[in-house]
Amino acid sequence: MSGFKILGVSGSPRKGGNSETLLDWTLEAAEAAGGDVEKVRVCSLDINPCRHCGWCDTRGECVQKDGMGDIYEKYLAADRIVIATPLFFMNAPAQLKAFIDRFQCMWAKRYLLNKELREPGAEARGWLLAVGGTKGPSLFDGIDQLMKCFYSITDVRFDSGRSLRYRSVDHAGDILEHATARADAEALGRLIASEN
Ligand SMILES: Cc1cc2nc3c(=O)[nH]c(=O)nc-3n(C[C@H](O)[C@H](O)[C@H](O)COP(=O)(O)O)c2cc1C
Repeated sequence: MSGFKILGVSGSPRKGGNSETLLDWTLEAAEAAGGDVEKVRVCSLDINPCRHCGWCDTRGECVQKDGMGDIYEKYLAADRIVIATPLFFMNAPAQLKAFIDRFQCMWAKRYLLNKELREPGAEARGWLLAVGGTKGPSLFDGIDQLMKCFYSITDVRFDSGRSLRYRSVDHAGDILEHATARADAEALGRLIASEN
């Protein structure tokens, strides 16, 4: 039993869609390997966009009281974070982008107020599960940049190399037909739960 706290974030508005299916496979395998797993669906949380009001600059927390509620606590308590998303216009859907932008208060806490986000010694790692309906060599460049930035700002080590990205996965259920996706996701789940 690893006992790692693993937070899965589903960014798709399509419930049970391709990226959420990948996330479920990953989390189920992680749980079976001893992880302490929780999943949040961003589109069920009713999250407002960042207003750039500046409140967080001096406080390190957000003034808005909405679906972000206990998300910050859950995110900062997690040892392992998995973000699953489809590509929308080459990047994250608006709901996931709003979720990410609302971590501006964590940026303020770290870089304006010079405070640590986690307990001393705590180290978090993060992965990306991404799908796109089209193909092309640079399909995931935008989302990769976003994840690199988000994980870096929130003090999470991004394991980009072992993250999963699938092209030509478009209609709901297409991921079920993919030759290796399920096995890949389950292998990743086991790794996430077990690797120190
Ligand atoms: C608004 C919108 C924008 C999209 N933009 C892209 C895109 O830029 N590139 C791409 O490959 N697929 C794009 N797609 C297709 C989705 O990425 C694809 O259908 C994916 O499988 C959806 O994943 P989900 O089932 O997890 O929501 C778009 C779909 C929508 C609805």
